[in-house]
Amino acid sequence: MGFLLRTIFFALFLFQTIQSQNDCRFQSCGENQFLVRFPFRLRGEKQPERCGYPGFDLICTTTTYNNKRNSQVPLLNLPYSGDFVIRDINYLTQEIQLYDPNNCLPKRLLNLNLSSSPFFSGYSENLTFLSCPPEQIANSRFAKIDCLSNSTSSVLATSSMNLVKALSDNCSTIAALSVPVLWPLQNSNDWLSSDLSGDLMLTWNVPNCEGCEARGGVCGFENGTSDRIMCYTDPRTVQSRGMKIFKIIALSIVIPAVTCSICISSLSCMFERRRDRDSATSAAVAPQSPAAGAPEGLDESTIQSYKKLVLGDSRRLPGPNGATCPICLVDYHPRDTLRCIPLCDHCFHSDCVDEWLRLNGTCPVCRNSPAPTPPE
Ligand SMILES: *[C@@H]1O[C@H](CO)[C@@H](O)[C@H](O)[C@H]1NC(C)=O
Ligand SMILES: *[C@@H]1O[C@H](CO)[C@@H](O)[C@H](O)[C@H]1NC(C)=O
Ligand SMILES: *[C@@H]1O[C@H](CO)[C@@H](O)[C@H](O)[C@H]1NC(C)=O
Ligand SMILES: *[C@@H]1O[C@H](CO)[C@@H](O)[C@H](O)[C@H]1NC(C)=O
Ligand SMILES: *[C@@H]1O[C@H](CO)[C@@H](O)[C@H](O)[C@H]1NC(C)=O
Repeated sequence: MGFLLRTIFFALFLFQTIQSQNDCRFQSCGENQFLVRFPFRLRGEKQPERCGYPGFDLICTTTTYNNKRNSQVPLLNLPYSGDFVIRDINYLTQEIQLYDPNNCLPKRLLNLNLSSSPFFSGYSENLTFLSCPPEQIANSRFAKIDCLSNSTSSVLATSSMNLVKALSDNCSTIAALSVPVLWPLQNSNDWLSSDLSGDLMLTWNVPNCEGCEARGGVCGFENGTSDRIMCYTDPRTVQSRGMKIFKIIALSIVIPAVTCSICISSLSCMFERRRDRDSATSAAVAPQSPAAGAPEGLDESTIQSYKKLVLGDSRRLPGPNGATCPICLVDYHPRDTLRCIPLCDHCFHSDCVDEWLRLNGTCPVCRNSPAPTPPE
């Protein structure tokens, strides 16, 4: 059964890959898990101009970000603000998650100007950036922004006017401005500062494809020349003519592959039963198919509705979670994107758990089946 499922998924994957060669919708860049499709497009011959909406052009480029050697990343250029790397795109909620290719987002936030860009911040906070003597901050609980600090000055950002007042003797104000943040930093009465280690989350309203995405469709321009947006729920309508050939090739691979795998799995099933009968002396162990009774995978909107978070430099996780992702067996690193299962609060690398949840609707650790709560 598992083999059959894997074959079908491989076939679907193959189909998608082949489709992407001649279609507006599917492109990816580097190791990123998200697909680039309308309203975004990858500039270059891969996706022609009509595949994307103005202002949503991405460039797939090689970067030496961090110590990852020469990885390919999708860059978004914001007018007046420069290039950002896209970590993730949520087409359903129309949100993008960005980071600075030079790993100092606070510096970019100081100069962020989103005018003439289709993007805006969902939630902003009024922050004051202070430059303080290092010894003032060294033994305090205030989080300093490392990449803005140097040997003669420690920089911190706070939304607390009380803190600004208290430090006004020894610290100077670099800037006071409204800054997009992932979530409310703190109550303004708190004496806290933020190291702003999260990603930049922006959202867009135009073009509005939320309804289309929720129905499982994909937006696109109605026609080569028209600037009207259409919702394509039937993928065939956005396929070019050359697609038909690919589709025939794909189907000629998919159908035999599926048929073949059904044959093989039923054969292996038969053999297994025979083996079970042969060794029937110990009747206690009932052969249990791993898929039997297991809930089916979740749909995309349910998966996307689960809480997502980006690890800060402290790598502190909420809930009952260790330092290693139980699915992909890789340690968590700062800025990793995690997704947490509601109810049990178990978190995993979102790339790993999304794939899992598409196949299997239970938490990989405790096998809890979170009640499917589709948005709205
Ligand atoms: C953003 O940049 C534009 C063009 O340079 C300028 O007119 C506008 O005042 C800037 N906005 C802010 C908030 O700085
Ligand atoms: C930020 O400051 C502006 C005025 O400068 C004010 O209108 C706005 O309410 C403030 N926002 C928050 C979240 O305090
Ligand atoms: C340290 O940073 C401050 C402002 O953040 C700057 O004025 C100063 O010149 C810097 N000092 C050195 C040695 O780089
Ligand atoms: C400012 O710095 C001086 C000397 O470094 C220190 O004595 C004083 O307590 C500081 N003021 C505040 C408010 O921390
Ligand atoms: C698309 O354009 C062609 C002509 O280029 C036209 O015949 C066709 O009706 C248009 N389709 C729609 C849905 O408007």
